[in-house]
Parts: sequence; C-alpha cells; structure tokens
Amino acid sequence: MKIAFVASEVTPFAKTGGLADVAAALPRALHALGHEVRVFMPLYSVMTNKHYEIAAVETAQHVTLTLGQFTYEFSVFSTTLPDSTLQIFLIDCPELYSRPFLYTYDADEHRRFILLQRAALEACQRMQFSPEIIHCNDWHTALLPLMIKTSYGWDRLFQSTRSVLSIHNIGYQGQFGVHTLGDIGIGDIVTHMYSPDLASGHINWMREGIRHAHSVSTVSPTYAKEICTPGGGHGMDVSLRQRARGVVGILNGVDYDSWNPETDDTLPVHYSIKSLQGKRHCKQALLTRSELHVDMETPVIGIISRLAMQKGIDLLIDSLPQLLSTRDFALCVLGTGETQYVSFFTALANQFPDRVYFENGYDEALAHLIEAGADMFLMPSLYEPCGLNQMYSLKYGTVPIVRKTGGLADSVQLWNGQSGTGIVFDHYDVPAVLWAVNTALDLFKDNIAWQSIIRNGMAMNFSWEQQALQYVELYKQTG
Ligand code: ADP
Ligand code: GLC
Repeated sequence: MKIAFVASEVTPFAKTGGLADVAAALPRALHALGHEVRVFMPLYSVMTNKHYEIAAVETAQHVTLTLGQFTYEFSVFSTTLPDSTLQIFLIDCPELYSRPFLYTYDADEHRRFILLQRAALEACQRMQFSPEIIHCNDWHTALLPLMIKTSYGWDRLFQSTRSVLSIHNIGYQGQFGVHTLGDIGIGDIVTHMYSPDLASGHINWMREGIRHAHSVSTVSPTYAKEICTPGGGHGMDVSLRQRARGVVGILNGVDYDSWNPETDDTLPVHYSIKSLQGKRHCKQALLTRSELHVDMETPVIGIISRLAMQKGIDLLIDSLPQLLSTRDFALCVLGTGETQYVSFFTALANQFPDRVYFENGYDEALAHLIEAGADMFLMPSLYEPCGLNQMYSLKYGTVPIVRKTGGLADSVQLWNGQSGTGIVFDHYDVPAVLWAVNTALDLFKDNIAWQSIIRNGMAMNFSWEQQALQYVELYKQTG
C-alpha cells in the first residue's frame, strides 16, 4: 500500500512525547512489511544541528503558499530514518518553524500546522505520489481528511485516498477562534465544519478530524472505549459515538531496537531475562548519576514524565511526602512541564536530598538509565491513551505501578500471587496510590515473588511487528 503518514513530531528528529516514538516506529514497521510509506513532518530549527543528511526534493523547492492574508514559502527535503530506508520528508519553512520549541502559544500556531498539512499534500502532488491512505496523527494533522475531500478534492491524485486519524491524546484538540477560518480555507471547506462549534466562535480541529476521517483509531482498546464516554471524551464523545464505524483501539508497540536492555547502547552493562546481573550495575550507575545516597538493597522508584495534569502528579503531591516519611525507598524523577509540578519535585528533593533526585529537563540517556536502574516505575495517570514507559519498564525488568486507565490497563496485569506483571490500582485517589506503592514496597522484600513479577514482565512482547499488522487491517477496512 502507498501510505502518507503525517505527524508533528518524529523521533529522533523531534520529540516531546510518545507521539514521536510512534510516528517513527509504526512507519518503520509498515515499511518493513513492504508498504511504501512516506512520512511528513516540519523541519524545526531546533533539530537542524543533528547528524543526518538531507536532500532537496527538486520538484518542491521555494513553493509559495497563501494562507488567508499570509504568504509563505516552503521547501521539502528528504532524509531517511536512521538504520532504515524509510523516507522522511521535512517541510522547511523557517518563518514558521524557526522557534525555540516545537509547539508555541504564538498567534500563528494554527498556521504552523495548516502549512504542515497543505505542504504535505502539495509535496505529494509535486512528487506525483498518490497515497491510498493518508494517516493523520492528533490535532496538528486532523484537518487533512477534510482537505482531501474539499480544497484538494479536485486533484485525481487523491481520488481514491482514504484517511485515518489516530488520536494519541484527546485532551489536546487544536481549538482556534473562527477568525482563523480564512487561513485554512480554500474552496467550500467551511460548509462542512461543525456548525455548533462555528456558532460558538471556534473551530475544533480534532472534531473535524473525527467527523471527516474515513477511519478513526486510538492507541489502546481501553482508551477507545473511554473517549466515547462523557467522562473521557473531553467534549468529543458525542462526535465519536456518531461515527457509524466507531473508534478502533490498537495498542502502541515498543521499538525494541531502541528499548531493549540486551542491546541498549546507552547502558553501562547489558542484561536479559536469563541474567539480571547487569541490572544491578545499572542500578549502581543510576544511584551514582543521580546522587542518591542509599544502599543497593533500597528500592528505587523511577518516574519519567511530561509534568502535566494528565500524568497524575496531583496524587503524588498528596502521597509522596507521607510515603517518604514512613517507608524506606528512593525516588528518581525526570521530567519537564508545568510550574507547580516542577516546584513540588524541587521541594521534595530538597526535603529528602539523599533519597529523592529530580532532574527538570529532557534527557534521553537518563531516561534509558532510569528504565534500567530503577526497581519500580510509577505512572499514576489521570488518563493515559497508551503510555510507553510502562511497556519499556516491563522489558527492563522494572516493575510498573500504574493506574488502571487507557493503555496502562491494557498492558499491565496486577500481580495476584502467581501471575501478573505489576501493581495496578483503580481509583484516582490518594488511598489507592498509597496502597499501590506500599504493596510494591512490601513485595520487593519477597525476593521470590519479586523475581517472578520481573520475569513475567520481561517475557511480554509488545513489538510493533504485531501491532503494525492491525494498522494494515484497518487500512484495508478503511473504505
Ligand atoms: P506522553 O506521550 O503522554 O508524554 P508516553 O508514555 O507515551 O507519554 O511517552 C513519553 C515518551 O517521552 C517516552 O519515550 C519517554 O521516555 C519520553 N520522555 C518523557 N519525558 C521525558 C524527559 N523529560 N526526558 C526524556 N524522555 C522523556
Ligand atoms: C500521547 C499519550 C500517550 C501515548 C502517546 C503515543 O502523548 O499521552 O499515552 O502513549 O501519545 O501514542
């Protein structure tokens, strides 16, 4: 199949979260299955000093595009994903993508992603690439289904193109005032938009994607159900329920080329399910790296997270001080995000300097070392469409402590004394977190049980090879 895959971030070129991991690994897996996949993303200035070669797409240089009253010039460059022949097409438009961060609150934020979508379509035209599937990801690309039916509907190149929208996080919807309409539109696009939104003065890109994509998927079966309810839909549940063919939930996979303790070249020592000795070395390296002054027998809990409300940090504010005062464990936290959460972890590290380490930043190498060196990994998410770190943790023999929501519910099973891969709690409240962490700390002392949980987790297989086949099936059904 010919597939155009469009995303706002793709690892290792640009990443703020799991979307980037998926936007690299899924196309890579589809490509390995023999499909012709072309990935489109912006060429952000924050990624220009990386080591990869780019080549100009000759037919797509200095292209002028008018968005309302604004005229931009973009050029398309191509590169390949490292260790792959999968082609990545980078949309270069310094006026829009030369900013300190991938995402902004600037007044032209909507135009940054209108341009991405239109440039992806124009690049297809200029390369005469006629995709059978255009796979959109999250709000940044959610207008594409509508664009191929309206503004670009005249072009026979897209006559049999079908669209798939994958929702990675319904909490971010791309909602802009109606004054931005003129920047989107050519043709009769507005007549197809959701009139109650327009009447209340805005356009919601996610909703337009949900209404117009031929298929809608999300990143776990449980989240697919959750977003169709008023409690989980963030206002999109009615539009989702109105879709005749519903929402398909496909659990994300793991890129085991990058996340595997047997081969992970960022680790000081490798290890595997057959021999966990190397994990102790990694724990020692983590304790040293993060200046935690505890002995090797003290359990270490790891957290790697965007510090946002979604991730359940509010529960930790009300439980970690108590836990640290009553139990013997260390905590290693890596994350960036909202000020109140940064302040909380900073204060916690000051209060317990020997046992709590907090790094306010983004650090790929430390993320790998935490996965390998920690004994447990805590994800108390309020909601979690899929979550990748709990699956990385399973592979690294780091027992996940998770809330039973979204992809966490689909990937971690509560240890019941015989089977199970982690500690899973139901309720989003402080007693539940206290129970979960206390249970994990108690189990840690039971070496036989603990080794079983670790090995059960390490034996799980969430490879993309399997999950990509489900996308192929979805593409085939997208009629
Ligand atoms: P989300 O996409 O909601 O942030 P996921 O669990 O799907 O959550 O993916 C998060 C990804 O981002 C993981 O690969 C994780 O290791 C990475 N990550 C998050 N925060 C950091 C950080 N501060 N430093 C390094 N990697 C991070
Ligand atoms: C989003 C979600 C996360 C998911 C990731 C990749 O950022 O918050 O749960 O794993 O997308 O699909």
